[in-house]
Amino acid sequence: MDKLLDLLSAEVSGAFAAAGYDEKYGKVTVSNRPDLCEYQCNGAMSAVKEYKKAPLVIAEDVAGKLFGSSVFEKAEAVKPGFLNLTVRNDYLSDYLRQMASAEKYGLSTPEKQQTIVVDYGGPNVAKPLHIGHLRAAIIGESVKRIGKYLGHRMLGDIHMGDWGLQMGLIIAEMKERQMGLPTIRELEEIYPAASAKSKEDEAFKKKAMDITYELQHGNGEYLAIWKHIMEISVADLKRNYEKLNVSFEIWKGESDADPYITPMVERLKAEGFAYESQGALVVDVAEESDAKEIPPCMLLKSDGAALYTTTDLATLVQREEDYGPDWVIYVVDKRQDLHFKQVFRCAKKTGIVPESVRLTLLGFGTMNGADGKPFKTREGGVMRLESLLNDVYERMLERMKENGAEMSEEETKDTARKVALAAIKYGDLSNQASKDYVFDIDKFTSFEGNTGPYILYTIVRIKSILRKYGESGGNPEGLFVRPAESASEKALCRLLSGYNAMMENAFEEIAPHKICAYIYEAANAFNHFYHETKILSEEDEEKKKGWIALLTLMKGIFEDAIDVLGFEAPDQM
Ligand code: ARG
Repeated sequence: MDKLLDLLSAEVSGAFAAAGYDEKYGKVTVSNRPDLCEYQCNGAMSAVKEYKKAPLVIAEDVAGKLFGSSVFEKAEAVKPGFLNLTVRNDYLSDYLRQMASAEKYGLSTPEKQQTIVVDYGGPNVAKPLHIGHLRAAIIGESVKRIGKYLGHRMLGDIHMGDWGLQMGLIIAEMKERQMGLPTIRELEEIYPAASAKSKEDEAFKKKAMDITYELQHGNGEYLAIWKHIMEISVADLKRNYEKLNVSFEIWKGESDADPYITPMVERLKAEGFAYESQGALVVDVAEESDAKEIPPCMLLKSDGAALYTTTDLATLVQREEDYGPDWVIYVVDKRQDLHFKQVFRCAKKTGIVPESVRLTLLGFGTMNGADGKPFKTREGGVMRLESLLNDVYERMLERMKENGAEMSEEETKDTARKVALAAIKYGDLSNQASKDYVFDIDKFTSFEGNTGPYILYTIVRIKSILRKYGESGGNPEGLFVRPAESASEKALCRLLSGYNAMMENAFEEIAPHKICAYIYEAANAFNHFYHETKILSEEDEEKKKGWIALLTLMKGIFEDAIDVLGFEAPDQM
């Protein structure tokens, strides 16, 4: 379906042409002075150069041609040469009718479906998930869902850290304790103990490193233990990610890249990309235009061991072979920026991925506590994901009780879980990913302001009106949006009409925060309209039906939008 702004632009372009000017000046945008007009066109200002006329004269010529337009109710030339535009109510309601019956409310299907891998897990096996993994999970899941909603083939890869020193540490500790295969609870205790020991005990650390080396070189006993640890860890990870409404298409880890390392390294050596420098094997990735020096990308350490960079490169080899992606998006802490710059450059330079493949780091900022420092537990430790979820859930339950929610115990709990998840996810996603933000539990769980619970509350309100309409004998199906009756209704209609453009833009810019900003604005517009309008008690049946159609459209749009953000609305709260 065409975007509303494109249709408006086409109409104004036609008027430019009719007035004897080039139609390229007819671009229409949403007004940046909503107090003055709904839409605007600044083309007359740019046309001055070509036609050597005062901008106001050009704007007046064009406005004259828009007189009696079936699209605009009013087109006014104002100083110094803007065109202020008001769209016709019936034109807008027609557009919304089309949206209501179009697939995905008028989103266009992509010309070419892309295969996009989103790498957004990065949990380290056998270490508990902590809030550092929370942002990757929340943002990555949303990016994946946005792409899928648009019609692309999206593959979420958890890319576990499952091959590193932590495995050697755990096995070394198990050996010392002479214990059998651990349970997940034991594992959670073994890793921190082993990690602490390795910092004091050189011999222990050496042993752990040796075990890691042997594991990576096929020691059968260690591989068997590793396999067991993987099995119980993966089950635990699945359970935890499920609570976040996050899932992955690909459950691979760094270990899966291992078989690709040797052939890759051999090729890069043979083709002259990799050379030895101070014993290590490196590839130059610096470029002339670099303002800051980018150090060479290291493939092998002097002892022959592979590094984080090697694994990421080998994983790209595997992804190229298995999926041939058009785009790989990494959702990782932005402090890993240099690492990814090196990996991307090396991958392109050496032909691991073709030049046409897009490689993007969506680097996220830190989640801070109220003190502006990285979020910690009250005791000052690293906050575990499970405890965080639980704290927010408890706070949500309290709030719902304060609000006097009339629901059964079970329903209250279920609702609190849904709203708590929305509070956390919206609190995160409403910020631009690259920015740090403060995790403020009181603010995030509030039913007012720019929060997840406020958005859900608005949806619940709409659902409740539609339910009551049904209960009183109305049928909300098959109704049509009518031309807006009031300014607040029209403002809401205009916002809804921009849904497709907003969603496509959020995908292009990989920017879930734009979806949050949109639904917040639309929720405000709805609540404004709602407070001015008696919907269910309206006596004019036709008017009422038009509003029910508008609310049905709005509910659909909201539910789709929060679904791509990764949460859902309860029926009441
Ligand atoms: N496991 C890593 C960490 O915890 C994150 C992995 C990110 N993804 C990647 N392809 N490097 O820091």
